[in-house]
Amino acid sequence: MDWGMENRLAQLIQPDGRCCFLPIDHGYFQGPTRKLEKPGETIRPLLPYCDALFVTRGVLRSSVDPHNTKPIILRVSGGTSMVGKDLANEGITTSMTEAIRLNVAAVGISIFVGSDYEHESLLNLSKLVDEGEEYGIPVMAVTAVGKELEKRDARYLALSSRIAAELGAKVVKTYWCEDFDKVVQGCPVPVVMAGGPKVNTELEVLEFVHDGIQKGAVGVNLGRNIWQNDFPVPMIKAIRAVIHENASPKEAYDLFNSSKNEKD
Ligand code: 5RP
Repeated sequence: MDWGMENRLAQLIQPDGRCCFLPIDHGYFQGPTRKLEKPGETIRPLLPYCDALFVTRGVLRSSVDPHNTKPIILRVSGGTSMVGKDLANEGITTSMTEAIRLNVAAVGISIFVGSDYEHESLLNLSKLVDEGEEYGIPVMAVTAVGKELEKRDARYLALSSRIAAELGAKVVKTYWCEDFDKVVQGCPVPVVMAGGPKVNTELEVLEFVHDGIQKGAVGVNLGRNIWQNDFPVPMIKAIRAVIHENASPKEAYDLFNSSKNEKD
């Protein structure tokens, strides 16, 4: 692997082989998502605890201090909205030149396997990988958002994740599901888990993150279940403990509760 590519991947996946990415890209199709209305304010207290930020160029430039940040995974697909016809009809929104100008550690793009736009989204991924290889920039493929999430089972997520890896993604972001080991085992590159819409209890999140890590995921790219929590800093600390300190869900939940009583 070329030095630049390897160096960028090493910025993202930590020496223990794990990672905690913080996505704040949701506005690119959802608009001012709850608790992400002012992204700069949302992320400020969380930045010390994440290993990378997943963000669009607009929010990066407007809301993230270039002097004080973490490695950036730049969201470079979009062009649809939640009130439009079909979320799956994405294109590439940001050039590789812009990604280099922004000094990013990786770029991220969604694919929509099984949708009317499967072909386009997979060719977009392939094109992005070709460009990324030229400049040593890894691509993170994001599987199954929006309507495609209804198919949140191991068979579908394994199919999507494997295709993303075959087309050259260096990291695949997918969702946790029952039999998650089938997803990880069929994917020859590192897999990270997203959280999806906020779930009811912190313990549920910690349990699925723990299960996914036990089954081979290298970490998370998990947003709403952190920054929509009433206690986002204790929540990211608890998730980090599962990822980087092998904490059990119960140990991490105890940490969440004890951190709630501390001043950040
Ligand atoms: C949607 C994304 C998000 O980065 C991804 O879904 C992770 O966030 P969450 O944990 O909130 O689902 O790709 O644009």
